[in-house]
Amino acid sequence: MKRIFSGVKPTGHLTLGNYIGAVRKWVEEDQHRADALFCVVDLHALTVDHDPARLRRLSRQAASLLLAAGLDPERCVLFVQSHVDEHARLSYLLECTATDGEMRRMVQYKEKAARERERGGSVRLSLLTYPVLMAADILAYGTDEVPVGDDQTQHVELTRDLAVRFNQRYGHTFTVPRATHPAVGARVMNLQDPSVKMGKSDDTGPGIVYLLDEPDTVRRKVMRAVTDSGRDVVYDREGRPGLANLLDVLAVSTGAGDPAELAAGYSSYGALKRDVADAVVELLRPVRERHAELVADPAYVDGVLRAGAERARALARPVVDRAYRAVGLVPAA
Ligand code: TRP
Repeated sequence: MKRIFSGVKPTGHLTLGNYIGAVRKWVEEDQHRADALFCVVDLHALTVDHDPARLRRLSRQAASLLLAAGLDPERCVLFVQSHVDEHARLSYLLECTATDGEMRRMVQYKEKAARERERGGSVRLSLLTYPVLMAADILAYGTDEVPVGDDQTQHVELTRDLAVRFNQRYGHTFTVPRATHPAVGARVMNLQDPSVKMGKSDDTGPGIVYLLDEPDTVRRKVMRAVTDSGRDVVYDREGRPGLANLLDVLAVSTGAGDPAELAAGYSSYGALKRDVADAVVELLRPVRERHAELVADPAYVDGVLRAGAERARALARPVVDRAYRAVGLVPAA
């Protein structure tokens, strides 16, 4: 069976974009067809200014939401990154494999560092080395496939380069993974700015539907989504991105297939938005309800995460031990 690994960074509340773009596929396909690990990558959340209490809250919430969305601890391994030491342990060896120039070329680093400096803030060293820790996450588990958004392609490419380089220098140790991406229609864009994806870290609230938003809030956000000039309802991703985004969301949420065909059924934006709002509310309803049950049962969630970390550790430990031996570190007697 293929090994799949993916991670969610607890830097914000999970969104409809995370759900449609990633989590739903983990739930409906990946955990059934593969040997899958899903990780709340809390160490990665420390690369930018953070509030400890908020991080703790968001990490637990991410884990509960992944369970609420349908990840089944009998079918996959769900765990928190910082519970498994092997990530940090392997990250150091990969820092000794990567080069300074390679890290500074990472587009996400350049963008985030520039933004941080503009605000007069300082850039944590871990922001630069972040992709190496991500490579460690992936390589520690002999991962074949990494389902991620397009913005992570470069990081997975780096992971491949590091795996190949390490294997060439020290003998075969790591599986060389590849990135897989969600289908085009599964990429949900910000409702206020359809040129950017509906991410969780950027705090432009009105364009982002959070999984735990109340139905009224969901409705308000959808009804206020920017559409494009023009009155007719047609599916045109290039020319009418706001409208296309709504049609994509409707198609995915209702399972009604083709967004272009759906467009033909509408003569006004208002009617379309109402249907999109209803569809999203219904899509999220079971997740919200299950999440409320899980919040009421923290011992269950703790137990899942404890068992997940144990299984993850057992998988990663031998791989990382092998890497330590391969580079010439003396095995502990
Ligand atoms: N960097 C990823 C993101 O920002 C999160 C992540 C960390 C990840 N480690 C990973 C994703 C390993 C896939 C595999 O979305």
